[in-house]
Amino acid sequence: MKIEFNSGAKADIRVIFTLNKDLGGAFVSDRALLEKVGFDGADESTALFAERGELYVGVEDENDPESFRIAAAKAIGVLKTLKVKSASIASYDKSGADRAKAIAFGLALGAYEFNEYKSKPKERSLEAIYFNAENYYGAKTDENAVKAAIGYALVVAEGVNFARDLVNRTPEDMTPSALANEAQKAAGEHQLKCEIKDESYLQQNGMGAMLAVGRASVNPPRLIHLIYKPEKAKKTVAIVGKGLTYDSGGLSLKPADYMSTMKADMSGGAAAIAIIKTAARLGLNIEIHAVIGAAENMIGGKAYKPDDVLRAKNGKTIEVKNTDAEGRLVLADCLCYAQENAPELDYIIDLATLTGACVVALGEYTSGVMGFNDDLKRSLLQSAKNGGELAAELPFNRHLKKLLKSEIADLSNCAPVRYGGAITAALFLSEFIEEKNRDKWAHLDIAGPSFVEKAWGVNPFGASGAAVRWAIDWLERL
Ligand code: BES
Ligand code: ZN
Ligand code: ZN
Repeated sequence: MKIEFNSGAKADIRVIFTLNKDLGGAFVSDRALLEKVGFDGADESTALFAERGELYVGVEDENDPESFRIAAAKAIGVLKTLKVKSASIASYDKSGADRAKAIAFGLALGAYEFNEYKSKPKERSLEAIYFNAENYYGAKTDENAVKAAIGYALVVAEGVNFARDLVNRTPEDMTPSALANEAQKAAGEHQLKCEIKDESYLQQNGMGAMLAVGRASVNPPRLIHLIYKPEKAKKTVAIVGKGLTYDSGGLSLKPADYMSTMKADMSGGAAAIAIIKTAARLGLNIEIHAVIGAAENMIGGKAYKPDDVLRAKNGKTIEVKNTDAEGRLVLADCLCYAQENAPELDYIIDLATLTGACVVALGEYTSGVMGFNDDLKRSLLQSAKNGGELAAELPFNRHLKKLLKSEIADLSNCAPVRYGGAITAALFLSEFIEEKNRDKWAHLDIAGPSFVEKAWGVNPFGASGAAVRWAIDWLERL
């Protein structure tokens, strides 16, 4: 579907946003009609007057971009069920083009459908949405600013939708090597360097933790290293993604109800690929190393076991208490790899669907932010907000750290108590961050928002592409 600025285009239907609960923005002649159908102007409310060619959509708070994004997503949800080919949207910008950006994001993210496994996808008539120069505020629309804002939103939204596509695919189709192929394809399209490391590399380089996790699977693990290196980069950043293409729990097997949706345990890895690809498309002036640990956590005769002791790339030994705490094992080796194989780094951000505890703490829609550096965490929280994602800090403390002690190895892979599980997982990861990099590292637990089994905000059922908009905003501001 086409989304563009085109002031002259004729459209079958116009989308009209009301800008508060008093229905600001509604045509005077429509007000009585809107009241009659009980349209209250709240977020997510719509009123369709098909014969007039009007779709009203509520924007509860005109100063909140999220209100606009959600309204636009809601609008496209209605539009795509209609038998119309085109729709138009006026400009709602007082100054700049922030609202055009928010609306374009809402449209592009809300229009996403995943039909790969449907033998008969629903037929859609809608072909184009045109922004026009009509301005609700009577101001002159800055066409170039609006065009640029729409263009930016579409590139970033394509990145989000790319991550969604990777995650929504079945675990049978999206194995570690299939994910590596996707990374290679992205590299080819956007002039990135791409290195794929197989089991023998992992073996030769002492990555015993990641190897153990992938050992029982018929689909062997892959470490994916993508590099975006613009000339004269201002900063160098590693983005390390958890890419569990399936997490059955391993021998500490998940109960059936918790196992389904675990194809989404590669969301951090998918986001990392989407982020580097989008950063390259935008031409950001930051050198980026995306390191993805792709593996499948399965059961079988070769499976790693609770009671095993593994040796990670930095030489630390890990007692396995629970094979379902596998993401941190894969990340341990990948964090070491990133610190050894990327040049001097300014930041190391890892993205992972790491713990159910994070979802318990913050709810399904919010990611957890952890690390030692308060300024870094603050900038990440701000970027989550700018990007339209929800995030909150989960604080470390010395008492939780003690819970990772092991009697027989350097540390154990999970704490003996469930409480504070998101934080103890992050503290485990911190053991694989070199002392000199402590303040450069942050961990984002995206277990909640990555995959939700219902539509929410600008996200349809399933994969949301969590952390892509967030990280792009953060990288842009470095
Ligand atoms: N992939 C899961 C975490 C998860 C849970 C992601 C729910 C998305 C939604 C992770 O590997 C896991 O199983 N973690 C365990 C850790 C525990 C064994 C210490 C958990 O959270 O229960
Ligand atoms: Zn697990
Ligand atoms: Zn997992």
